[in-house]
Amino acid sequence: MEKRDVLKLCMKNGFFLDRSMLDFFCGMEEREVRQIVEKLRNFGVVEKILTEEIFEKHKEKLGIRNQEFGSVGICGVEILRETRRDFEKLGASDFVSYFRVRFEALRDILIKRGDLVNLSSIRRIGWDNGLFCFVGMVYDKRITKNKNLLIEVEDLTGRTVVLVNRENKQLFEQAQSLLLDDVVAFKCSGSGKMLFASEFIYPNSCLDRENFGDSDEFVAFISDLHVGSKMFLEKNLMRFVNWLNGEVGDERQKNLAAKVKYLVLVGDNIEGVGVYPGQEKFLKIKGCRGQYEKLARILGRIRTDIEIVMIPGQHDAVWIGEPMPALADKWSGNLGKMKNLKMVSNPAELKIGGLKILVYYGGSLNKFIDEIGDIRVNYGHRNPVRVVEEILKRRHLAPVYGEMDIVPSKEGDDLVLKDLPDVFVVGGQHRTMIGSYNNILTISTSCFQSQTDFEIMVGNEPDPCKVPILNLKSKEVKILDFSGGEVVWEEGDDLICKLDGGGR
Ligand SMILES: [Fe+2]
Repeated sequence: MEKRDVLKLCMKNGFFLDRSMLDFFCGMEEREVRQIVEKLRNFGVVEKILTEEIFEKHKEKLGIRNQEFGSVGICGVEILRETRRDFEKLGASDFVSYFRVRFEALRDILIKRGDLVNLSSIRRIGWDNGLFCFVGMVYDKRITKNKNLLIEVEDLTGRTVVLVNRENKQLFEQAQSLLLDDVVAFKCSGSGKMLFASEFIYPNSCLDRENFGDSDEFVAFISDLHVGSKMFLEKNLMRFVNWLNGEVGDERQKNLAAKVKYLVLVGDNIEGVGVYPGQEKFLKIKGCRGQYEKLARILGRIRTDIEIVMIPGQHDAVWIGEPMPALADKWSGNLGKMKNLKMVSNPAELKIGGLKILVYYGGSLNKFIDEIGDIRVNYGHRNPVRVVEEILKRRHLAPVYGEMDIVPSKEGDDLVLKDLPDVFVVGGQHRTMIGSYNNILTISTSCFQSQTDFEIMVGNEPDPCKVPILNLKSKEVKILDFSGGEVVWEEGDDLICKLDGGGR
């Protein structure tokens, strides 16, 4: 950028520059300089002359990473956590260590709650009757002849059995929702021969207060495009792209589009190949590379000041287990050349405009729907944010071993929610819903694919072409509907979604 233009832009925003900042800005593109200066102004920087010290002080909030100076320069999206590791050869001992680190991480979260009194380990329970509290992992559960529930539980010191009496209806119902490998605190009476449950305590997720971002900008969330499928709703997706570019919609909608600065794609970006038997007859584009090229052409139409982040899903050309690595270079083609696109792992934790946003494709959600009677019977696939509550209760994205492939890591379990996000976004359910759980905003994304045979078979009726957009500052979410000929507001004129759920 020319010196003269840099100075003009800064003066317009009320700033002068010292020599080092002038040199720094001159090596960047106009879009990047504008973003930095506008953000500094919005942060309420009172100094009139911008110096390196002032810049360093706000660098983290600006989302700038050192290694990017002089290239892309600014990245409003900070990647707080993602999985990037080589798949080494693994043995049985690696799985044992993996379960140990997972147990310890969740046990520590439970202990930090501070409400577990008389905490013991299974080995210390002994044969004398008493009241006990211990943290255990569910090993097995079964119904006895008398229709009570028997839960086999283990910790690092041993294994025991806990009986839940069917007469205690509320507790019995709670116990039925316990999943294998869940880590919970058990409050019991009895002895090492047989324990009788009185309460289960989940690690749970709870932010003391709701956090808000620092910029009046929007993030749009889309997922499950399934590019390459015959059911891919290309025209509708293009209507969304045209809206982002300010080409369609009424004045209000166009003004809003201009404030969308980020776009997050939450998996199933392409339809993929060989995902399920007989899939080829539903493919319009027969190869993954061709499907990604098509996606690159579509995303390439989006105005370049929008930063795009993309995680993979089960239809993408990546390892199908979780965590999923970011899409590899050999598949990405022209997507990899897009300067405003960042491909990261599933799950990934982002920081955008001051908000911590956890993005997860949600491969485990179907397991929760199948296994938890309350959800299966009362909601099915119709209420994904209710399912997300079960994840937040457990502080684990996919607790049941065997529901999907995993790559154990000795360093830790990437699927444990050690730090809580401000916003938790899931894809994969093809239905937009907004919820709130203990000050954490929960969002499920829609899709751009019409109903598939598989969805008919499992009773999942999708709600395609809806796009939730999140204001970083107010945390209001608006849903836009691109299913018809015009861009319409999903939730009436006030544009603010009703929140579903409330935490506990
Ligand atoms: Fe999908």
